[in-house]
Formats: sequence, C-alpha cells, structure tokens
Amino acid sequence: MTNITISDSIKYVGVDDHDIDLFEGQYRVPDGVSYNSYLIMDRKIALMDTVDRRKGTEWMARLDAALAGRTPDYLVTLHMEPDHAANIAAAMERYPDMRIVGNAKTFAMTAQFFGTDYADRRIVVTEGDTLDLGTRTLQFVMAPMVHWPEVMMAYERTEKTLFSADAFGKFGALDASQPWDDEARRYFINIVGKYGANVQALLKKAAALDIARICPLHGPVLGDDLGHYIGKYLTWSSYEPEEKGVMIAYASIYGNTADAARRLAEMLRRRGEKAVVIYDLARCDMAEATAEAFRFDRAVLASSTYDAGLFPVMDAFIGRLKSKNWQRRTVGLIENGTWAPAAARIMCEHLSHMKDITVAKPVVTLRSAMNAASEQQIEALAETLTA
Ligand code: FEO
Repeated sequence: MTNITISDSIKYVGVDDHDIDLFEGQYRVPDGVSYNSYLIMDRKIALMDTVDRRKGTEWMARLDAALAGRTPDYLVTLHMEPDHAANIAAAMERYPDMRIVGNAKTFAMTAQFFGTDYADRRIVVTEGDTLDLGTRTLQFVMAPMVHWPEVMMAYERTEKTLFSADAFGKFGALDASQPWDDEARRYFINIVGKYGANVQALLKKAAALDIARICPLHGPVLGDDLGHYIGKYLTWSSYEPEEKGVMIAYASIYGNTADAARRLAEMLRRRGEKAVVIYDLARCDMAEATAEAFRFDRAVLASSTYDAGLFPVMDAFIGRLKSKNWQRRTVGLIENGTWAPAAARIMCEHLSHMKDITVAKPVVTLRSAMNAASEQQIEALAETLTA
C-alpha cells in the first residue's frame, strides 16, 4: 500500500495494482498501475472517483481508515471508465446520504453501467459550476474526449489543485520508481493520442487557472516543475515530434529484413545520428513502439511482403499509428520480397492517408537478402534521413 501525503485536507485513498497483466485489456504494465482516488476533507467531504473493480475491497478499507468515522458528502465522478468508476454503485450503497456529482453525460453512463441515473441523489454540473465544501471550493472544467465524452476535471481553488482525470497520468504503480516521461508518453499516446485537439482545448482552459498541484487518476501527484509536464502535453497533443531521432520498426520473417534494419541503424549512427531506436514488431511492446514513433521526428518502416500484402505485425503497427493520428513525420521505407515485393507500395498507400507524411527517397527493396545493390540503397536512405 502506498501512502502519499498531499496536504492536511487532501488525502490519497487510491490503490496500486501489481497483479494486472494487461491494462485496458491490451497494454502491458510490468510495473503495475495505480487507480488514484482522493478525499477532500472540509466541512463537507468530497470523494474524488472510485477505483477498478479488481481493487474495490482494498479501496473501501483504505477509505474507511482515512474517513476515521466521518462519511463523504459527495462522490465526484470525473470519469466513467471502469478503472475509476467500477465501485460507484458499491460506494453509493455504503454511504446512503452521499450525493453523486457528475455532468449529464456521466449519468447516462451510470444508467448503462449500474442501471440507475441516480435521479434523486445526483448533482448535475456543467462548465464553470462550483461545489462549496466549506473553506474549499471545487470548480468544474469540462474535458470531453480526454479521454471519454463525459470526462471533466475539478479545480480546487484554495489549494490550487487540479484533479485532472486521466490527463497527466502514467502507467506504473506508485511504489515503482520510473521516470515520468516514458511511461506517461506511452500512456498518453496510446490512450488519449487520438484526441489531440480535445487535449489542446483543455490545455487552453487550464492555462487560465493558477495551478500549483495536479492530482491525476493514475501515477504520481505532480507538484514541482509543472511546466515540464504541461509542455510535454502541449507537444504530444499537437503531434509535433518531441526529439530529433530515428525510430526503426521492422517486421521480418527469417531475419533478412531485420538485418537491413540493423544495417541502416549502424549507418545512421556512423553519420552522427545520436538517437536511433529499433523495434522488432513481432516481439516488442507495440504500445511502446507507437509512443517512440511519436517521440522522434523520423521513422523507418521495414517489412517483408506476406500473402501479397504486409507482414501482419507491420499492418497492425501502421494501423495503430493511423488510429492515433500520427502525422508530420519523415518516413523511410524498406521492403523485402522474394518473388513479388509489394510491402513498400502498400505502406505508401497507408501513409498517403496520414497528414503531412514525407516518404524519404530512395525506397529500399530487398529481394530475399541484402546484397551490394540494396546496401547502396540503404546507405542512400541513411544519407537522406541525416541530410
Ligand atoms: Fe484511466 Fe480513461 O481511464
């Protein structure tokens, strides 16, 4: 159990989950994940979100201990995704005098998940509405599609604390020490990446608030150097590259396409390229590879031809890039095919549907394995990518 001190009035009552294998049923989380939940203790008590069903019992015990005999007056529901909302019905049953605070979309979703819109116990809020807790006041900020349509944030004016829902969260339990940037990037790009415009709109609204602390629904509470985290969100949500560097992703059947990808990496490094990362799409964490493609300004896709199409993991990878709105990048292509190479044509076709993608010349074609001619093409591609 992770104990976090936030302030005299704001208590952390979230839980770590180290047992989960796949977050959202698809993302590897070797260091677990935290489901954050908070109590604001004032004359009135606000409980800020619940946790995943997997950790309901632990959460309730933690909540009881923090409440020390008091009961919450409000359950503020910032996000209805089940990793935060699964225990709403249980909490409403446990505290029969507690009212639930959400927006109109929140209660359409409680009806779907729990069979009730809490018509007699709800407080429906909209942009700018406030909730008076005594000496503290929550102000609500709507944040649709960051990451679901009902998402909202709550700004506590006295302590200048933004309860930011999924935004500014990261993978990893709170007792795992990892740098914020990498796991926050992997989280943001894969989970919220598609909705960059919505995040930009939210950040504009947040800029008008004097924020001293951010309490997200996953990962650590952020108090220092908020400009760093907000800066990363501005970059990620704008689809601009974060750093100069080349991300190489390959899909290889017998290792020949992989050889070409590694050869290109060597050539790039020899030419002075400082950041070159390489991913075997059949074996890597595809979510990490996706985040790395967003991180760098250039990428290379190297794929075998298979069934007259792309090798399946490359098809899946490009699909992910497309669904996350990947754009504004220079992309090199390497294809392989023993009798009818088609991978480059198909990759070009996919890339043509993405915004502002420039295909670097030349496109490299291997026929089965590297030879002197294809090595020359790879060298020429390295030259173009480092020009
Ligand atoms: Fe952590 Fe969109 O839920």
